[in-house]
Formats: sequence, structure tokens, C-alpha cells
Amino acid sequence: MALVYVTREIVGDAMGRLRAAHDVVVRGKPEPAQPEELRAAVSDAEGLLCMLTDRVDQELLDAAPRLLAIANYAVGYDNIDLAATTARGIAVGVTPDVLTDATADLAFALLLAAARNLPEAIAVVAAGQWSTWEPTRWLGSDVQGATLGIVGFGRIGRAVARRAEGFDMTVLATHETPLEELLARSDFVTLHCPLTPATRHLIDARALSLMKPTAILVNTARGAIVDQLALGAALRAGTIGGAALDVTDPEPMPPDDPLRGAPNLIVVPHIGSATYTARARMTELAVNNLLAALAGRPMPNPAR
Ligand code: DGY
Repeated sequence: MALVYVTREIVGDAMGRLRAAHDVVVRGKPEPAQPEELRAAVSDAEGLLCMLTDRVDQELLDAAPRLLAIANYAVGYDNIDLAATTARGIAVGVTPDVLTDATADLAFALLLAAARNLPEAIAVVAAGQWSTWEPTRWLGSDVQGATLGIVGFGRIGRAVARRAEGFDMTVLATHETPLEELLARSDFVTLHCPLTPATRHLIDARALSLMKPTAILVNTARGAIVDQLALGAALRAGTIGGAALDVTDPEPMPPDDPLRGAPNLIVVPHIGSATYTARARMTELAVNNLLAALAGRPMPNPAR
């Protein structure tokens, strides 16, 4: 039996399988652990089930001399220093596929909400200010027949493209259309690439300047793919039409973040995978990764 530390409570039956095989300690608090607390918590752990809110860096690994396996509760793993885990021979696993549809649904929900001004319309009704049917107000953009640019055509990008078919959209994707051309031609641009050194601030001031003044940017990938200062400037200058973000840099968005208050901006709190089914299946995959690695077998879903 190994000691496994789980950094937050998670949903789904699969935790029972982990508990049956190992000593499992689940941190009971709703907020992420501070780095010092996490370092102390993993000092005897052989397994770690962590969230994208936990930074797994050299300092954490130095504090965890017995650590053999890390299951990240996410498909992305930019919170983990993979060079450092590889150097220590620690297996790292992720949860692909099971959150693809939930995340693609949210990307489309954000696209539609931004296109049809839903947050402002909802706020007016909630404030008791719905006075009449408005012939000239609330005029949004057409989604049907529009051009959708998909940056990153992996599992989630392809799932978004399938949804776009139902709206008769013309889909441009970066596996066949150069980014600059995609940005210039799209009515909606949606980001689905991983965050890597090459994609950090991929959508910078220059990229934003190539977009149509009516275009809407959707990001359900990672906040740092977008240069948020440049995005705030573009929204305030009206050089793009709007942005709908599930992810920001940093998260949560601080009260004084310069992007806050920009016009035509929707921000939701990183809920792409937040359906019960997706999260329960993420638990299953994370548990499978840990059980395999702690039994000396390869993880079924390693980070790579
Ligand atoms: C992931 O798995 O990387 C998602 O961002 C979690 O919602």
C-alpha cells in the first residue's frame, strides 16, 4: 500500500478503487493549497493526484523524496515541470478525451453568448429594466453561416468543428490555414492549443490587429495563450468585436486586473470540464493512472 495525497475533493466512484488499494489522504479544503502546505503534505507521499491549480515544480519534488507517480486532474499539464519529473523518473498522467465534449460545448456556449449579447440582456431583465420589445437594441452577430477559425485542431478543436457543422459555418483550422490568414478571415476565433513556450501570447497585439473589427475571440484553452493587456486594449479601442474567456492569466482574475471592465467581454471561471460526467470520468482516468504506476506498470494516459 502506498500513501496517495489528493489535493482537492473530486467527484465519482473511482476514488473507492484508489482507497481499496492505497492509503488515501484527501485535502478537505475548497481552495488550492499554498506551496508550503503542499510541500509538507507530500513529504511521505508515493502518489499525488493534483489539480491544474497546483504547481508541481522542482521545489515540490525536492520535498517529496518518495514520490513515484503524479496524476494530473486535467488534460493540460502546464502546471507540471515535466523536465523535472522526468529527471526524477516520476510518471505523470493526464485525463484526455473525457472532457472533450464538455469543453467543446462550453466553447460554443461562449461563442453564442458573446454573439447574441446574452450577459447584458440577462442583466437588464435581472435588474427589472426590461421595458419593452426593442426593435433596434440587442442586435448581435449571426452565427449561422459565419466563418469560425479554430486555433489548435486536436481533440477539442475537432469537437468544436463538429458543432460548427450544425450552424453551417465555414471552418478554418490551423492545421491547414496559416494563423494570420485564419485571423483575418474569421468571424469567430476559438483557441484549442496547449500552452507551451511556443503558444504563450500567441494571440498578441499583432495577432489581434489582424482580426476583423467585428470578430469575437473565444478561449477555453489556457489564459496565457492570449496577451491579456493587448486584448484589453483591443476591446477598449474596438478593434475586435468581443471576447469570451473561460481561462485567464492569472486565475482567478484579480480584482484590479486591467482586463476587467473592458467592453464586450465575458469571463467565466474555468468551467470547461465542469459537468458531473466529465469530472467523474476524469477521476476514473486519474485513478487508473495512479493504480498502474504504483503497481509498476505504465500509465494508460501519460503526459507527453
Ligand atoms: C484541462 O483538463 O486541462 C481543463 O482545463 C480542465 O478543465
